[in-house]
Amino acid sequence: MNPKTQFSLLALVVLVFVLSSSSSVNALNILQQLKGYDNYGAFVDLLNQTKLYQKINERNTVTILALTNATIASIQGRSDDEKLAIISSHVLLDYFDKIKLNKISKSVEITTLYQSSGAANDEQGFVNITRLSSGQILFGSAMKKAPLVARLEKEVFTKPYNLSVLQVSLPIIAPGIGEVILPPPPPPFTPPPSESPKKSNDDEEEEESVSPAEAPADSPESGSPAPSPVADADAPGPATENEVDTPADTTTGSGASRVFVGAATAVMALVFNFL
Ligand SMILES: *[C@@H]1O[C@H](CO)[C@@H](O)[C@H](O)[C@H]1NC(C)=O
Ligand SMILES: *[C@@H]1O[C@H](CO)[C@@H](O)[C@H](O)[C@H]1NC(C)=O
Ligand SMILES: *[C@@H]1O[C@H](CO)[C@@H](O)[C@H](O)[C@H]1NC(C)=O
Ligand SMILES: *[C@@H]1O[C@H](CO)[C@@H](O)[C@H](O)[C@H]1NC(C)=O
Repeated sequence: MNPKTQFSLLALVVLVFVLSSSSSVNALNILQQLKGYDNYGAFVDLLNQTKLYQKINERNTVTILALTNATIASIQGRSDDEKLAIISSHVLLDYFDKIKLNKISKSVEITTLYQSSGAANDEQGFVNITRLSSGQILFGSAMKKAPLVARLEKEVFTKPYNLSVLQVSLPIIAPGIGEVILPPPPPPFTPPPSESPKKSNDDEEEEESVSPAEAPADSPESGSPAPSPVADADAPGPATENEVDTPADTTTGSGASRVFVGAATAVMALVFNFL
């Protein structure tokens, strides 16, 4: 092998390294992004255990329908396969923030990561997003006759137009994947008494609250007397329409770009040498 060939081979190796490290700069790195959002800790653990985070990181455009610790508890007892199917149904392969959700004219059917697993039958791999005339946003399996079980509770954060994380009220389980969880029936309508009915509890019962069409999601937070530290854990939520607090993110970013710059310099040096 003559020195010229050796040099070009070496340059090629370095170039490949640079390209692969630059793609890691662009990766969504979903586990990092969700770090610190403790209220979704169990959901994040499942993304980790099922290795779904790897599949998510391969994507450029994703909307995560996140479940709080309280709402995900209902599926924790299920088999690993079932949990994998359910959690991958909460990863939409499209970008939906609040603005885009509010522009849905009636309903749309969106492909999920479960569809790309190849295990889905019929419409199991799709989620139906429906916007009611009241402005409320509902989610359900796109399977025929499947109920729209979950509602949008809030936009957790967005990275337009790559990643959006939305909190939904219940797990979305396509018929055939496992037992479907239905929302509790709405309590009979009673005109709100003079004192706020919101005091009683934060999650499920919010369902019926005749909140203003816009941003029903935020009301549980602001209205809640925060009786437990658990409720508090989500506190950064309401303030963040867009992401603010990802120190971890910045460090990885700069770490990765340092590698990139270093490697790029190496290539330059080699190329100059070569010439
Ligand atoms: C949610 O669950 C995870 C793991 O089970 C836990 O680490 C985290 O502290 C919990 N967060 C809250 C707010 O309860
Ligand atoms: C993912 O799981 C591994 C072990 O299975 C653990 O070491 C790591 O801290 C977890 N990452 C996150 C972000 O939870
Ligand atoms: C965001 O999406 C664009 C185009 O879809 C892509 O080029 C870019 O790499 C993505 N960024 C991340 C962080 O995934
Ligand atoms: C979504 O679900 C609603 C209610 O079941 C249904 O009327 C609508 O046709 C569905 N939309 C799509 C795009 O499948």
